[in-house]
Order: sequence, then C-alpha cells, then structure tokens
Amino acid sequence: MTIIITGGAGFIGSNFIYYMLNAHPEDRLLCVDKLTYAGNLSTLAPIMDKPNFRFCKADICDREAVYALFEEEKPDIVVNFAAESHVDRSIETPDIFLQTNIIGTSVMMDASRKYGVKRYHQVSTDEVYGDLPLDRPDLFFTEETPIHTSSPYSSSKAGADLLAMAYYRTYGLPVTISRCSNNYGPYHFPEKLIPLMIINALHDKPLPVYGEGINVRDWLYVEDHCKAIDLILHGGRVGEVYNIGGHNEMRNIDIVKLICKELGKPESLITFVTDRKGHDMRYAIDPTKIHNELGWLPETRFAEGIKKTVRWYLDNEAWWQPIISGEYMDYYEKMYGNR
Ligand code: NAD
Ligand code: DAU
Repeated sequence: MTIIITGGAGFIGSNFIYYMLNAHPEDRLLCVDKLTYAGNLSTLAPIMDKPNFRFCKADICDREAVYALFEEEKPDIVVNFAAESHVDRSIETPDIFLQTNIIGTSVMMDASRKYGVKRYHQVSTDEVYGDLPLDRPDLFFTEETPIHTSSPYSSSKAGADLLAMAYYRTYGLPVTISRCSNNYGPYHFPEKLIPLMIINALHDKPLPVYGEGINVRDWLYVEDHCKAIDLILHGGRVGEVYNIGGHNEMRNIDIVKLICKELGKPESLITFVTDRKGHDMRYAIDPTKIHNELGWLPETRFAEGIKKTVRWYLDNEAWWQPIISGEYMDYYEKMYGNR
C-alpha cells in the first residue's frame, strides 16, 4: 500500500513514519510537508534513502502540487497530520491556522476523492471539545461531547473535523477522525511545554508557567498515539470519530517540578507568568470506544515516558540546538519578553 503522510517532518508525523516503517515494512510511505518553522528535515535524515520512503516538499493548500502528487503516486491511504499546531501562535496570528488547517484539509480531501483513496484519516485533537472544569473529575470527553472550542487553533481543527464528516456524508469519502490528548516524546518542537521546560532547565533559564500552573492536560507518549492511528487505519469504521488518551491527567506545575527533579535542577527556576488568553482548564479523554472496538491501550506509563523523553533531549542536543537559535529566539523574545 502507498500511504501519504502529511506533516511528517513535524513531531507526531515523524514519529508515525518511524512507527509505520517498523510495523509495516511492506508499505510505501510518502511524506508531504511544507517545512514550516515546525518541520525539520533532519528528523527524517536517517530514512531519506530508504526505497519505500519518499519526501516531498509541498504545501497541502497548493491544489496543483497535491493533485500532481496523487496523479503520480495513486495513494491508497492519506493520513493528514499537517497543521499549524501551537495554541499560543494561533492567538497571535489566526489566519495561517485557518488556511492550513481548514483549506489544506479540504484540498487533501478533494484530492483523496478525485483519486479514489481507500481511507482518508484526519488527525484531530481533544481541544475541539473545549475544556472541563477542575472541580468535576468525574467528567471526560467522549466522542459524543459537543464541539465547543476556545482558541483559533482548536476552532480551525474543529472546522476541519466538520468538513471531514461532511465529505463522508455528502461524497462518501471513507473518512476516519482521531482526537488525541497531549502527546510527548522525541522530536517535540521546543516551543511546547515539555521540551521547552527541559531545554530551559538545561540552560538554567526561567521556566515560564502560565497563570498558577493548575491547568490539567492528559499526557500520552507519542508512540501510543501512532499505534492507535495504525489500528484505526486497519480496523476503524469509516464515518467514525475515535478519542485517544491515556487517563494520565497532570497539572502543568507538577510536570515542570518533575522535569526539575529529573534534571537535578532547582524549582526556584519556576517563574509564574501572565496566563494564556482563553486558557483551557482541563482536558481528559474517555478512550473506551477505541479500547472496546480496536483493543487499543496505552503502553508507556508516564513515569517511564518522561524519563525516556528527558534522556532523549539530553542525548540529542544536535537535533534541538540548531532549532533554538535564530528564528526561534525571535519567537521566544516576542512571546515571553513581556509576560
Ligand atoms: P507540529 O507543529 O510538530 O508539526 C506540523 C507539521 O506540519 C510540520 O512538519 C510542518 O512543517 C507541517 N505543515 C504545517 N503547515 C503545512 C502545510 N500548509 N503544508 C504541509 N505541511 C505543513 O505538529 P504536531 O504536534 O506533530 O501535530 C500533528 C497533528 O496532530 C496536528 O494536526 C495536530 O493538530 C494534531 N495533534 C497534536 C497533538 C500534540 O500534542 N502535539 C495532540 C493531538 C493532536
Ligand atoms: O490536547 C492536544 C493539544 O496539545 C494539541 O492539539 C496541540 O497541537 C498541542 O500543542 C497541545 O496543546 P496545549 O496548548 O495543551 O500544549 P502546550 O505544550 O502549548 O501547553 C501545555 C500546557 O502548558 C498548557 O496548559 C499551557 C501550559 N504552558 C505552555 C507553555 C508553552 C505553560 O504553562 N508555559 C509554557 O511556556
């Protein structure tokens, strides 16, 4: 089978490519990525010459380029990871989020329709459900929870989900959607909480915790997310949404303290800064459906996953050091300078 994986030079997409090359060596994988600030070709360097892998630099909004690629490759499956993914950036510049996350998705689905792909999978997020109150630990997001977004990022992802369901109903495009909680692991771009805190701590720089640090996220090791998508591609029912999450809720402040402990750094590095606008309080996924239908369960416990992740950043400075210079420093100064 030929599988197009968009956004494969980013965090989860690249982990998915490595996962699939290992799990399904008989498949041919084609990575389509625009290489925005979040895309990193060095992540894929070790597999560039593999005969069953091809990298193609393209924008998923570029209809002509996307159609030409489908014409040439005749893919069986499309997995759309490509997106603008950072909530803070969406608050500063919403338009690029609408462009890539909604228009880009529509272009990928039009191409999938035109060339008759057997499965179009949309990688979505638990953020489309909005947030849950801290004082109701009994509440979880199920696939029936209404869409109720907070940020331009989550709204653009919700728009893409609605469009995907419309393509299923109107055109019969064989769509599946997965909505996952927060991922962590190797190749995570340094602007996100966990890698940012690891890298800042290594440099003895302040660790900027938004608000009081009591917001809760439901953390999942990235490989468990990849495995879930693989199961959905092979056994998921078309027209269905699958929630993915590991029942691993943690407060931001506790994550940051844990990272300090792992690295032997003092908690005095923690600095409370101005909160994110519209900051979601709590995400918590109910993964019963994917467990019952596809037998999925997370395999990496957080205590083990965070150790592996910290170790990975310690061992792979050559990956993140070039990222945190230049353009990233301008971003950091702009986002955190006056916070
Ligand atoms: P990321 O920002 O690390 O990577 C995004 C990738 O998409 C980059 O390689 C970038 O170059 C590429 N890209 C961006 N715009 C593009 C365009 N117009 N055309 C082609 N490529 C483009 O993101 P991530 O954290 O790996 O997230 C991947 C997907 O998973 C996203 O759709 C995101 O909404 C979803 N998701 C992420 C998480 C998480 O915790 N990170 C959780 C649930 C869902
Ligand atoms: O839930 C899934 C989502 O998880 C994905 O859809 C997004 O693409 C992904 O970026 C992630 O979104 P979050 O906003 O939850 O992740 P982020 O790492 O940006 O922030 C995690 C929490 O940490 C959040 O409550 C904000 C807080 N935070 C973040 C940063 C970058 C801080 O306190 N300080 C920081 O410097």
